[in-house]
Amino acid sequence: MTEQSADLRETVRRRYAASALKVTEGGTSCCGPEPVEVDGNFGGALYAADERDALPAEAVAAALGCGNPAAVADLHEGERVLDLGSGGGIDVLLSARRVGPGGKAYGLDMTEEMLALALANQKKAGVTNVEFLKGEIEAIPLPAGTMDVVISNCVINLSTDKPAVFAEMFRVLVPGGRIGVLDVVADDGLTPAQRAERGDYVGCIAGALSFAEYHDGLSAAGFTDIELAPTHAVADGMHSAIVRAVKPVMACPGVG
Ligand SMILES: C[S@@+](CC[C@H](N)C(=O)[O-])C[C@H]1O[C@@H](n2cnc3c(N)ncnc32)[C@H](O)[C@@H]1O
Repeated sequence: MTEQSADLRETVRRRYAASALKVTEGGTSCCGPEPVEVDGNFGGALYAADERDALPAEAVAAALGCGNPAAVADLHEGERVLDLGSGGGIDVLLSARRVGPGGKAYGLDMTEEMLALALANQKKAGVTNVEFLKGEIEAIPLPAGTMDVVISNCVINLSTDKPAVFAEMFRVLVPGGRIGVLDVVADDGLTPAQRAERGDYVGCIAGALSFAEYHDGLSAAGFTDIELAPTHAVADGMHSAIVRAVKPVMACPGVG
């Protein structure tokens, strides 16, 4: 990793540690914790009311994503699902409910403060088929071929090594496994400089791939059935988008 990438990753870690602490230290006022994301394009407002109501207030308040990946991934009873960049744990808790006691939801995050918040939220939610792991999405600390589904919510744009993330998603999935991701994606005409004019890196804008770059990156990692569909605009020419893809049953030998 270059010094510049390491600095950027540390800036991202600090930014999200501060978000976690804002919720953790927000106290227990009668109205519950203040949401860390107040822009309606991101965060808890993007979940259905019945899902929000069934979760600890702190899990909803900490939501920083750009959609609802557990719904996008169409999870089934008994599946093993991994959430990359799980933050305060909202998508892990929702996934755990969808896969039921015969399945399991894993959350992976590099930020200690987020992991502590997620564990506290898991306790409050009383959900047991969950495990939170500390680590980086570019080097997932799980064996190959162990997950049925990989989800992620507005995190891959923050990675300084997106090819590594795509390769790791492919590696941990079982043959036939799938991804159901929400991410910020740029119109193909926008240069990296134009993306950076629309928002900063830690705010999930400047590091976004274009639709074509996302497609090509997933394809290079070995994924098939790749679909990208914008859901709503988050800046001029930048969108929250659903990303779906499949690891083929007959993956190339030596891959995954
Ligand atoms: C925008 S927040 C999204 C959190 C969560 N997915 C949600 O929807 O609320 C980004 C999260 O990804 C984590 N993160 C960012 N880059 C990461 C990396 N390279 N490896 C692991 N975690 C990362 C941050 O610590 C933070 O918790």
